Amino acid sequence: MRSIEKGLEKAIRERENRRRREVREHRDQWGLKPPDMSRLSAYLVSLLEPRSLAAEQFKRLRTKILQQMKTRMESLILVTSAIQGEGKTTTALNLAITIAQGMSESVLLVDTDVRKPGLHTHLGIEAKQGLVDYLQGEQALSEILMPTEIPKLTLLPSGKPPENPSELLASDRMSDLLHEIKTRYENRYVVIDSSPINVFTDTAILAPQVDGVLLVVQDGATPRDYVVRALSQINHENLLGICLNQISAPESLQDSYYYYSNYANYGK
Ligand SMILES: Nc1ncnc2c1ncn2[C@@H]1O[C@H](COP(=O)(O)OP(=O)(O)OP(=O)(O)O)[C@@H](O)[C@H]1O
Ligand SMILES: [Mg+2]
Repeated sequence: MRSIEKGLEKAIRERENRRRREVREHRDQWGLKPPDMSRLSAYLVSLLEPRSLAAEQFKRLRTKILQQMKTRMESLILVTSAIQGEGKTTTALNLAITIAQGMSESVLLVDTDVRKPGLHTHLGIEAKQGLVDYLQGEQALSEILMPTEIPKLTLLPSGKPPENPSELLASDRMSDLLHEIKTRYENRYVVIDSSPINVFTDTAILAPQVDGVLLVVQDGATPRDYVVRALSQINHENLLGICLNQISAPESLQDSYYYYSNYANYGK
């Protein structure tokens, strides 16, 4: 029994060393600076404040989403919202980190919000090329996948903002990419941050190609008819649920947990 434990520990250590080596090699290859941990966004609560009430809500969100996806053997999750600034990027990041914190699941985090990419900035990463360069045929997939400092979390950054974002995201190359990243590894989830579905056509085009769509709604701020319009663009079978963001924590919970002023809540 002890030798099995020792063997497992050794395998985990080796995997972690391999990952660190890959991160270093990738940075050297592209002449990138190491991530600046002091520039990590304060909203990465799942990483920076793992015992906070907010981090706890992301664990609940993970559990509910993975329950649905595991039974259906699915892995592609798209995070969107009706309009801008409702918390898509914050939710996608924390959800991805929380899934990667699980025992065996790894995550590929993809930035399809090519007009206003933000994932790499929140992760303190310098990203010179990414999805756009791949879709324009200028980079191979292996060259744009960026290992991050967070174990089991890989980033596919957006790359330089294009002149024709909708055409690129609606292309056959994009559909082929989604198929490829979905089927490449077992036990890997793909979390996609996107543009607001009521504002740009890209996300409505991507939504039917993924396994599940999570709609982020800013509590008390987004008008009901905007939410209804967003929902009308998502197939009901494809909808994982609605994630209410920025709701105030009930007092009963504030007493028993480390208090965090805003947190996400999930419901369908
Ligand atoms: N639960 C939260 N509590 C407090 N602030 C939040 C929360 N979620 C998001 N924010 C803040 O709201 C702003 C918008 O969040 P975020 O960038 O995640 O939204 P978005 O939907 O990705 O926006 P965009 O449409 O511009 O891409 C950011 O300043 C973010 O830090
Ligand atoms: Mg965003």
